[in-house]
Amino acid sequence: MDATWQGYSAAQGFRTGGRDLARAALLAARSRTLRLADAYADVLAGQGFRVPYRETLNPPLWEWGHVAWFQEWWIARNAQRSRGVACDPDHARVPSRMPEADAMYDSSRVAHTRRWELALPDAKTTRAWLAATLDDTLKLLEALPERASDAELYFFRLVALHEEMHAEASVYMAGSLGIPVPASVLREVPQLSSDGATLKVPGQGFTTGWSGPGFAFDNELQPLEVQLQAFEIDTEPVSWARFREFVDAGGYRARAYWDEDGWAWLQANDVPAREGPLQAASTHLTAHEAQAWCRWAGRRLPNEFEWECAALTQPGFSWGQVWEWTASKFLPYPGFMPHPYRDYSAPWFETRRVLRGACPATSVTLAHPRYRNFFEPQRSDVFAGFRSCA
Ligand SMILES: [Fe+2]
Repeated sequence: MDATWQGYSAAQGFRTGGRDLARAALLAARSRTLRLADAYADVLAGQGFRVPYRETLNPPLWEWGHVAWFQEWWIARNAQRSRGVACDPDHARVPSRMPEADAMYDSSRVAHTRRWELALPDAKTTRAWLAATLDDTLKLLEALPERASDAELYFFRLVALHEEMHAEASVYMAGSLGIPVPASVLREVPQLSSDGATLKVPGQGFTTGWSGPGFAFDNELQPLEVQLQAFEIDTEPVSWARFREFVDAGGYRARAYWDEDGWAWLQANDVPAREGPLQAASTHLTAHEAQAWCRWAGRRLPNEFEWECAALTQPGFSWGQVWEWTASKFLPYPGFMPHPYRDYSAPWFETRRVLRGACPATSVTLAHPRYRNFFEPQRSDVFAGFRSCA
């Protein structure tokens, strides 16, 4: 696979690289976490970082404490960290640097609503906790052999990606709280041509999922051979210019363009006018709206295998501007085995929809054509748009 085009060489390098790239990724993630924390502090420090309860938010102090907790739990406190995916997630951990950390920051045990009731440490203490746990992590990374194995590197890579995912979520949260974020935490992405150009992808057998050495998420395994019929797919995500034609055509009032779930969602919600810069990818759309646009245009959403195949085999395929809804329900590939971080994938199968791609808030270490993101179809706070297929 040629990993030098399409802008995912950083993610490919990180997943298959050694100790030095893991260290660089841990430091890059932390730098982004702290720049975002500064942006939050500018607006929220005066109110003790308190934010209103919402299902799509976490208290910011909880987010940062949780990032540090996750790192310490899987690295410094994990006696089986060198076993990688063979680590027993339930083995007894050594105590935390922060005695009450498990009771506050363990996302599997502390329910979402509870996070708002905790007496969390203040910002200064939380930052010191972030710094101390990263310090422990880097020392343990340094202690690995120079040619460390994938098993030995597994948790270091996982915690770097976990922190980048939380940084991305912090960008979404900032958006819904009206907190401006610095441009330095976002990637620059190419503008679209909006010309509706398409690529013809021949029918073929295609191996989806992760094969070979390096880091993989559990839901990318095992590699799966799929037979694809010939299809045609947009070279780029649907722009606002193209989405607006659907709005102007009365698409939000025409029952015929919506499936049952989509129409029910539309009736139950006060959906604000969807608009944005005409040359940019349409975003903050639900899967329902993406599907309605496709039906109006006489097209459909690609399934996740078509998307992945096009991204990996078609040099003209442009991605990375926005997460893209696919037609695929989030399901395990045959042979799925949950990795030690049990709650990453398994609890979300069946109820969520797969998105592929990446958005400007996605770290370069995460943005990979094999990566499966997943959200409930009615989410519109995510930087999610779509491309169409036929
Ligand atoms: Fe987390």
